[in-house]
Order: sequence, then structure tokens, then C-alpha cells
Amino acid sequence: MIWFGGDWNPEQWPASVWATDVELMRRAHVNLVTVGVFSWSRLQPTPETFDFGWLDQVLDLLADNGIGACLATPTASPPPWFTDGLPVTADGVRLTPGSRDTYCVNAPAYRELSERIATELARRYSGHPALRMWHIHNEYGTTCFCDHCALAFRRWLAGRYGDPAELNAAWSTDFWSQRYGSFEQVQPPRTTQYLGNPAHLLDYRRFVSDAMLGHFVAQREIVRPSGRPVTTNFALGGWVPVDHARWAREVDVVAVDDYPASVGDHLAERAFTADLARGWAGGEPWILMEHAPGAVRGPDGVTRALAPGQARAAAGTYLDRGASGVMYFQWRASRGGAEQWHPAIVPHEGPDTPVFREIADVGAALRGRTPERPTASRALLYDEQTMWAWQSPHLPTRDIDYEATGRRWHHALGSPVDVLPVDAPLDSYRLVAAPLLYLMSSATHAALRSYVRGGGTLVLTFACGLTDEHCRVTPGSLDDLLGVRIVRHLPGEGHRWLDDVEPAGAETVRRLDGRPVVTEHRYGQGLVRYLATDLADIAPWLSPSRSA
Ligand code: GAL
Repeated sequence: MIWFGGDWNPEQWPASVWATDVELMRRAHVNLVTVGVFSWSRLQPTPETFDFGWLDQVLDLLADNGIGACLATPTASPPPWFTDGLPVTADGVRLTPGSRDTYCVNAPAYRELSERIATELARRYSGHPALRMWHIHNEYGTTCFCDHCALAFRRWLAGRYGDPAELNAAWSTDFWSQRYGSFEQVQPPRTTQYLGNPAHLLDYRRFVSDAMLGHFVAQREIVRPSGRPVTTNFALGGWVPVDHARWAREVDVVAVDDYPASVGDHLAERAFTADLARGWAGGEPWILMEHAPGAVRGPDGVTRALAPGQARAAAGTYLDRGASGVMYFQWRASRGGAEQWHPAIVPHEGPDTPVFREIADVGAALRGRTPERPTASRALLYDEQTMWAWQSPHLPTRDIDYEATGRRWHHALGSPVDVLPVDAPLDSYRLVAAPLLYLMSSATHAALRSYVRGGGTLVLTFACGLTDEHCRVTPGSLDDLLGVRIVRHLPGEGHRWLDDVEPAGAETVRRLDGRPVVTEHRYGQGLVRYLATDLADIAPWLSPSRSA
């Protein structure tokens, strides 16, 4: 079976609309709806009072109609009475309620309230016949710099480094007189005079990810006795302070939201998300928890309708790549509020409309379908910590976009391809590509060498392995594997960037203006191909056959 449906926010509508909604869901072959995501102010109108009557009715209605509930804990959007635990920006501005996601996961008051509402929901609904799955929170992503975060960050650092001397070594604090005498002296990377320390910035993102994960796990443990799978929907993109590869090990089922940015390339963008989600899921089921029905909102802020048939093609793209569920945001368009113009399965104009008809057709086509289990012989390594490292303002060029490069390589690799975290097992792949893998721990170095030694073809590019996981420069760290000596890095030369190399065992297979730009090196039983500049046409270099 494939999960099919979307976010339903019945609290925005009078109860008289709910029966119509459920009748329409049946017409559209919906079997799962996410409920309660933004309903905290309804469920707990004051700190001391709860109102579950409306949610009882909603869940009963779903159960009576054979529709499952993916029941959310509402902690992504605290009610207006919540004031003790609001987030603070890097500039020191405390945010005011009025939108959503205004919380600090390290604020004790917020943690306590989150666990309380999760406990009440678990107590009331764990045995409800509509309950299929728990949806903790929504798109974790608020970065905060408050004093609670400072305390928690110091604890996190103490756990990771043990001794301030280790922290000083990892963060290279002798540069600009940043040596710490104790963990108590460390602050979150709040706004400062000039460039921040890249290792400090990177560790703060790791810390924020772990702190939010702690908030998730606390709620997961509360709802888990119900025996239903527990998940949270991953938001994607460079701003998201969540290390999804790590989180994927903590959710019962990986769930991603996907909002491509262009109508023209939306299927390629969706394919990348789907392959990424499958990689995080590591062979287990994964779900597309949200995408917009029938439209794409571009980076210019314009929401454009997809051509007829494209909603079906979108669903097919996820399903072909192994999705166990295809869900939309949202079921019925909101009459008011910040997302009143967001596309919906039931638009303001009602069900007798092109989008409703097409989504209902998608639902009909999914009946009886079971999840695909694609297998690939080629893989792309995609590391979110490296993406974060590439965002640092101190780098010698601003011209590198790790995310866009990942997408371009994914497209060039064709299908099927697995998109994998750096610590995934690689032995079953004939070819592994790892463009722009700037940040490389000794574990990653060892894993890549072992993969090639065992007979794999590895494709690396310029700017790989420039630093360790603490952003400390590691010159020549790949030379033995590449069979070249990299004598200097030339950002802005060649195409975007050129590594100036002297072959030392590798064969030069392509030159640009007389300089080697593609080399191949036999290493153990395998082959390493190295692209020293950002070639426009990468596809010819993504075949494992040359290593034969
Ligand atoms: C998602 C979010 C939804 C809704 C949607 C709009 O990121 O989870 O609540 O805001 O975006 O596209």
C-alpha cells in the first residue's frame, strides 16, 4: 500500500465542513492525513486548560471513514501565551510570537511544555483506531542564540572535547587570540566584529542539530508506547540546521518535504530529493510527507501552475524512487492567514477544479500499488556538514554552490542512482562520485581508500579534502589516492576553480590550456578519477567502465 493524502487543518473550518472534507477525501482515495500540526492554541488555550473535544470528533470521523491519521504534536507553533522560551537571533533580537517556529529547543520552559502536550496527546490517542503514525513537530529548523543555548552549547562542547585544550586545538583558536581558558568562556557565534571562526560556526550548527534532535527524541519516547511509527518531516535546503543523515537513524520512517523551485526542472529536483531520502532511509521505507499540489513556487516568489499531467508525473518521480507515501500540503486551502494563497488539493473554488481532479486521479492510480525498491550501482555522496562548511564567509571564493553542484551531478548520473551520506557502506557500488567534498574526516579518508582498494571507481573533484572535520587545512591529504601532487588551488581559474596538479602516478586523460584537468589513478583494485576543474560536461566521466 502507498500512503496518499496530506495535511488537513480542520481547526481552520467549522465542523460543518469536516464531513464534506472527508467525503472528498474518499473520492480522492486519500488514506492518510496529517492532523494537528498547527493546533496548539486550540488544544491548549491556556497554560492550564486543554480542549481535545474537536480533535476527538476529527479522529472519530476519520476512523469511521477508514482514513488514517498521522497525528502531529503541535510544538512547531507555540500559542501566543507562550513567552518564556522565545528564540533570540544572532544579533540579540528576541523574536515575538506572530508567525510560527518561534521557540528555542534549549529553553527549559519550552521543553517542558512540549513534553506536556505530547504526553496529553499520547494518553488520549495512543489507542485511537484512526492513528497510523506520529508526526513530531514540523520541519525542525529554528536556530537560536540565547543564553539557554549558550549553556547547552558549552555542555555539548564539554561532552565532545572533554578538555578546553582539545577545543582550542580543534578550533585553531590561536588565530586571532581566541584561546579559551574554560568552556564557560565560549559563546554561541553571535554577531561579531568581522569573520567568525569557521570551526566555531560549524560546531554550532552541529550542536543546534543535536539540540533539536534531543527535543524530537524526548517526544518520540513519550508517544512510542502506542506502537505506531514515529517520524518528523525533514525540511531541505542550505538554511536548515539539521544533519539529516544523523536524524535518519532516530526516526522510525524517514519523511521529507519537497518544494522544488522551478517549473521547468521540477521533476529533476524531485528526483534528487527522492534519492536523497532513500539514501537516508538506508533501504528502509521513506515517505514524501509534503509537496505542493499542482504548482511550484519559484525563487522569484511567483507560484506557477504545473501543466496538466505534471502532478501525476511528480508523484511518479517519488514513487519510482521508492516512496511509500505521497502526501501534499495542504488538503483544503486556508481562507485566511499567511498561507491563504498556497496551493491546496481542495482550492478555494472547491473540488470541481483541475487540481482536485488531477490529484484524485493520482489517488485512484495508486490503489493496489506497492512501494518500489530500486537498486543502483552508482552513488553520489552528499554531505550536509560539507554544505554548511561551504557556506562560511571566509572561503577564497563565493562561487561554489554545493547544493546546486550536488543536483547537477545527480542529474548527470542519471537513474537509478543512490544519494548517500558519507558514512554509508559503499562496497556494493561500481562507481561513487563525491564532488566538492571539502570537509573530510580521517574516517571518510579511510572509507574512500578502502572502497577503491576493493575495486570501486571513485570520482573526486577539485576542492575535495581541503580540510578535516574541524575546518583545519589538510594539504596533500588526497595526493596518494589521486596519484597527483596538488601544488596550489586556483579559485577563479579554469572553470570556476582549478587545482594545479603535477601527476605522480596518475594518467592525465584531459587537459585544458595545457594543464591536466582530468586524471585517472589505479589504486588497489580500483580507479580514482579526478576532475581538477568544474567541467561543463561531467557525464563522460561518470562511467565505471574505464576502470576495467
Ligand atoms: C512547509 C511547511 C508547511 C507549509 C508549507 C508551505 O515547509 O511544513 O507547514 O508551510 O511549507 O509550502
